[in-house]
Amino acid sequence: MDKRVDTTRLQEMARAYTTSAVLYTALDVSLFTHVSNGANTEAALVEATQLRPVDVDRLVSCALSLDLLDWEDDHLVNTADVDAYLVEGKGRYAGAWMMFTRADVGGWFNMTQKMREPHSSKLGMYQELTVESARKYHQATSSIGFGAARRFVKTVDLSERRHLLDLGGGSGAYSITAAERFEGLKATVLDLPPVVVATQEYIADAGVEDRVATLGADFTVGEFPSPVDVVVMASNLPIYDSEIIGGVVARAFRALEAGGEMHLIGEMLNDDRRGPVDAAMWGMNELICGSEGRAHTRAECQSYFASAGFVDIEVIDFVPGILVRCVGRKP
Ligand SMILES: C[S@@+](CC[C@H](N)C(=O)[O-])C[C@H]1O[C@@H](n2cnc3c(N)ncnc32)[C@H](O)[C@@H]1O
Repeated sequence: MDKRVDTTRLQEMARAYTTSAVLYTALDVSLFTHVSNGANTEAALVEATQLRPVDVDRLVSCALSLDLLDWEDDHLVNTADVDAYLVEGKGRYAGAWMMFTRADVGGWFNMTQKMREPHSSKLGMYQELTVESARKYHQATSSIGFGAARRFVKTVDLSERRHLLDLGGGSGAYSITAAERFEGLKATVLDLPPVVVATQEYIADAGVEDRVATLGADFTVGEFPSPVDVVVMASNLPIYDSEIIGGVVARAFRALEAGGEMHLIGEMLNDDRRGPVDAAMWGMNELICGSEGRAHTRAECQSYFASAGFVDIEVIDFVPGILVRCVGRKP
């Protein structure tokens, strides 16, 4: 029998923007923070948010139906992930990251025109960075990057390694976390010159200045500091095309000592490109941000490593559905 089709999925897709908008507004008015602080009825939320009762009613209906809020008897509670990541003042608060791409909304709804009249540069959004914008940017990335870095040092043993090179290291999340975990390890965070000013502030906050240094440079050109025995490049894969990523991996190979390892961590597509959606969308994001970058498949990443000369190459799920880790060893 033919599988019956209907319009449900397509209708949901056509209005998916409403979900983002509700989340942004809930964060604007600190909805989840108020609920966590005890304003857990609609009357109390009207008082706490200073919104009209009808708007609190609308927002709470949306949040309940999106599984952001739930009922416990007659009062509202945050669902588990909301409670962990969207309550201000909690250690794992990631609101800055959730809002990170909000400024791009207009660009996404102008996509057709951007495709018909392409306008790009090699560095895309990074072309115009200032120290101030880099600080703001990494306030967002650090709210998620340090969690990823903790996952990295739990899964990758660097106890025998001496020097880590962190390409596009941003807040220094991976270098700082690795230096804290592995006593004998030094690290160099290489990032664009305005960014490393912000990086130094994270390094100072963590008190690891004696072991984590910075280098202001563009990783798309020039040779890397050498020798090092680990290279990490995390969460900047879709910003660049195959030629640039292949070139970075090849120069990382040259900078590594024999026996050294490289980890490329990023949003990677499955080889048939049927997902994950998030990886495809980060590739499209580069149209909006104005670079020539795109989403890369797992097999493509593996081929950048193989062409550079790496062996024992593996492509492993890192944060399932979001980040993948490609690792190789220099013989
Ligand atoms: C999304 S952030 C990731 C930061 C960090 N690796 C992490 O996972 O938390 C991407 C970083 O790549 C850096 N980046 C992008 N292009 C670069 C380039 N050509 N040279 C150096 N750094 C670059 C950006 O400045 C930014 O800090």
